[in-house]
Amino acid sequence: MATKVSLINMKGGVGKSTLTINLAWHFACYSEWARRVLVVDLDPQFNSSQYLLGVSEYEGILNAKKPTVWEILEQGIRTPSGISTISNPRDTIYKYRKFSHGGCLHLIPSRLELSLSLKNPGNKERNLPRLVTAIESDYDLILIDCAPTESMLTTAAYLTSDYLLVPVKPEYLSTIGLPLLANSMQDFKDEYPTSTLELAGVVFNATSDYLPEETVAKDTVRKLATKNGWYVFQNEVDYSRSYPKGAREGKPIFGTSYSRMDKVLNFQLFAREFAKQVKL
Ligand SMILES: Nc1ncnc2c1ncn2[C@@H]1O[C@H](COP(=O)(O)OP(=O)(O)OP(=O)(O)O)[C@@H](O)[C@H]1O
Ligand SMILES: [Mg+2]
Repeated sequence: MATKVSLINMKGGVGKSTLTINLAWHFACYSEWARRVLVVDLDPQFNSSQYLLGVSEYEGILNAKKPTVWEILEQGIRTPSGISTISNPRDTIYKYRKFSHGGCLHLIPSRLELSLSLKNPGNKERNLPRLVTAIESDYDLILIDCAPTESMLTTAAYLTSDYLLVPVKPEYLSTIGLPLLANSMQDFKDEYPTSTLELAGVVFNATSDYLPEETVAKDTVRKLATKNGWYVFQNEVDYSRSYPKGAREGKPIFGTSYSRMDKVLNFQLFAREFAKQVKL
């Protein structure tokens, strides 16, 4: 059985996609981990699909009409040509990298049309956990990159996951987004009281530690975390220009020639704490 973790925050731009892809590379490609990792891009913005594959490889998938997370959610829907189905769940998986030590990095990509699913959400949220159950024995870790708004996709992520990881940028507007997440999780637990979904923790992302505003925002988040019983990661992810630059080149922070060693080590420390929190 894979460990399934959703990266989620109702605030946009906090680093969900960045941490998803960097964690995926970390656990798949380092020989000390050598994990079989699947990224599920559950955001109509398809950022993590493009981050991983680059524009042309990603467009190749769409042109080849390979099923994406959109087709997964649309299963069972009546269309003019019949009821849409995916006959083999493994057809949705793009095998991006395989490493000689046994680790691999695979992707279920997203596409813009996923936003159409939200116009008529029906009972589509159950289609994702159903498909993941069918393929999860192929993986050790499944990372789900969520969209920043609450919708049927959020419920699909909750139903599929064992854990949630919440990246937070230490700034005022991020602290406003957190109560929305607390409410969303509470609503889910009320609707699905037998769910074993846990919060792996809140991680401060893109910190630089010299802005007074950061200290205030971190204090606010820590208070909220204590109130909700949430773990706050001891290792924060530093601000580094290598993250956006690496994203443009399809590389994790430790895969570039220009990332500073202290920033690479900083990410490794966070990844180690993450592994402990999700019992990887
Ligand atoms: N630690 C970091 N240091 C510097 N820049 C970062 C860091 N983390 C993320 N970024 C940059 O911040 C921007 C937003 O990050 P990202 O797209 O990962 O956020 P997101 O939460 O997935 O956003 P959305 O809610 O739109 O999906 C990107 O340009 C990314 O490269
Ligand atoms: Mg994103």
